[in-house]
This record gives sequence, structure tokens and C-alpha cells, in this order.
Amino acid sequence: MKKFLGSNKLKTAVFISGTGSNLKSLIKFSLKKQSPIKINFIISSNAKANGLKYAIKFKIKRKIYDYKNKQKNEDLILKQLKKKDIGLICLAGYMKILSKNFIKKFNGIILNIHPSLLPNYKGLNTHERVIQNKEKFSGCTVHFVSSKLDSGKIVLQKKVRVNKTDTPKKLSKKILKQEHILYPRAIMKLFANL
Ligand code: GRF
Repeated sequence: MKKFLGSNKLKTAVFISGTGSNLKSLIKFSLKKQSPIKINFIISSNAKANGLKYAIKFKIKRKIYDYKNKQKNEDLILKQLKKKDIGLICLAGYMKILSKNFIKKFNGIILNIHPSLLPNYKGLNTHERVIQNKEKFSGCTVHFVSSKLDSGKIVLQKKVRVNKTDTPKKLSKKILKQEHILYPRAIMKLFANL
């Protein structure tokens, strides 16, 4: 861990598409002395993403890629990441799927947070499906990104009870609260032995 403290913190990019509440929690975490990461770059696939306001507030460089030409965009993103010496990508509500080529070419670690207890409920609309199936528990997972959607090795999970009165919105709120704790914890866990 010592390796990533002080001015040696691991340069990190966060990829978003929407609200950015995980981005906010990651920024707050990154500002702590004991955090091994520094967020140097924010990428959004959506010019109107609410999360971009945190880039402005915390004076973090940001760029928007609309993915009209996926390959071209990914090439440009890779170039930027290399230029900025980024070693860690945290996907946080990023609604684009990174190509195999991108994952292979990026010289670092890529993490994602998913609002379910993987390997259950991969993909979208997890809370709706969890409630429909009358599950007693759901939760969230931080995992490595591999070329198969929501299938990379799991770093950390948090279980959350599903109440009978939970709507997808209520459950999402409950799980998001846990996501904000889990993502920083997963990063700490990952870098604890380095
Ligand atoms: C979170 O539920 C995350 O697990 C999923 O997308 C949502 C993003 O929320 N991948 P936010 O933009 O971080 O608020």
C-alpha cells in the first residue's frame, strides 16, 4: 500500500453516464490521506450527465465521448489514458460496454460496480427483476471488468435485505447507499497488499 500514498497515489479515471453518486463517493474517498488513488480524469458518455458537476466542483479534468463511432472513441480514450498515465479505471454507472480490444489494450486495472449480488442478475433492471422474483436479498458487487458483461472476478460484495414493501426505487436507494461504502472498501482491499 505504501507504494500508493502521498504523491505516488494511483492515477485513476472514473467513467460515468448519469447521476454520478458513486463518482462523488469515490472523489471524497480519494481525498483521504489513506486512500491509494487520486482521481485525475472523468469520462462521460453523456454531455448532460449530472455527475459532470462533480468534475467542475472538484476541478477534475473531464471529457465527453458520445460513442457515435465506438472504435474511434475508444482509441481516443486510450490515448488520453496513456497521456495521463492512468493505472486504474473505475466504471461507475457507465452505460457503454468496453470492447475486448479496449480491455486488452488498457495497461492497468478496470473495476465496475454492479447493483446486484453477482453472478445473479447481470445486466440492466436488476431491482425490478429481484422484486419480481421475490428475492429475500440483493446487494451490490465490485468486480474486475472482463470481456464478458458483469462476469469478471469479484473483489467485494455487500448483501442487502429486500423488504416486502420495497419498490425498485426504494431498493435502488438502499443499495446505492451501500455502493458508496463498498467501492472505496473494494479499492482499499485490492491495494492493501501492494
Ligand atoms: C449504480 O447503481 C451502479 O451500480 C450501476 O449504475 C448505477 C450508477 O449510479 N452500475 P450513480 O450514477 O453512481 O449514481
